[in-house]
Amino acid sequence: MALAFQPLSPHFAAEAGGIDLRRPLNAALAAEIEEAMNKYAVLVWRDQPLDQDQQMEFTRWFGPFQLGFGRIAAGHKKQRFKHETLADMSNVDEDGVVVSRHSRRIYTTIGNMVWHSDSSFQAPAAKFSILTGHTIPSWGGETEFADMRAAYDALPRRAKDDIAGLVTEHWALHSRAVLGDTDYTEEQKRAIPPVRWPLVRIHPGSGRKTLFIGAHAREIVGMTLPEGRLLLLELLEHATQPEFVHRHHWRVGDVVMWDNRCTLHRGKRFDFSEKRELRRSTTEDSASVMDAVA
Ligand code: OGA
Ligand code: MN
Repeated sequence: MALAFQPLSPHFAAEAGGIDLRRPLNAALAAEIEEAMNKYAVLVWRDQPLDQDQQMEFTRWFGPFQLGFGRIAAGHKKQRFKHETLADMSNVDEDGVVVSRHSRRIYTTIGNMVWHSDSSFQAPAAKFSILTGHTIPSWGGETEFADMRAAYDALPRRAKDDIAGLVTEHWALHSRAVLGDTDYTEEQKRAIPPVRWPLVRIHPGSGRKTLFIGAHAREIVGMTLPEGRLLLLELLEHATQPEFVHRHHWRVGDVVMWDNRCTLHRGKRFDFSEKRELRRSTTEDSASVMDAVA
């Protein structure tokens, strides 16, 4: 069967099907998927129950594996999986028991509930994230995506002129601090130093301009903190209006992949006494394509 893509919203996101993702890809299929990603930025595959090896095998076609926040968060969470680069996005401990809503372990889940681009706090940042659904709670827990290319296009001329050439600083722990989570050692803080990115970038796959913002963006270089943060908040508010957002309702066996270079995403609240188990594999962007500012 041939690959097929069905758009899910006016600007971006498509349902993908036609092949069994448990079977090894080949270069031609991977290129077709990459081309669809360049267009849609979010692809949703239904009824593709991948095991750990199959998920990693699928992921490796789209770039080198990336390890993100795990570099600092590791230590208080033991890996449940065979692969270090398969991230456990679940609200359960290593024995599969739901973590308490009063424990620090739930912070990672909550941290993913603010709009962000995976690993925008490090260089190279993330290219594609691939998230698979294993246990889905009875309400909430959707994942929302926002299209930063359409959001950029829709900015008024004045705003486009104002933000041209600006540089933003991203820091992993900024997103945590905003939520009141500041309990990190100096060593943890130093483990992931901030990184600077252009606020407006060219998305390599489509050649379109895109906003690079989200929870890790903590300041705009050359502006006072309040002015920079206000601008970042204003851009985020603009870019996450309903017309730019697609909401994914999870089913077991879903595989959702997104391009972190031109979308933001966030999880939606759910009942923390219920289990929600998702696994994420991530590929690394090539630093030369969307250049970091030194
Ligand atoms: C992620 C993430 C959101 C969610 O896996 O990177 O942000 O809905 N997930 O779990
Ligand atoms: Mn994420």
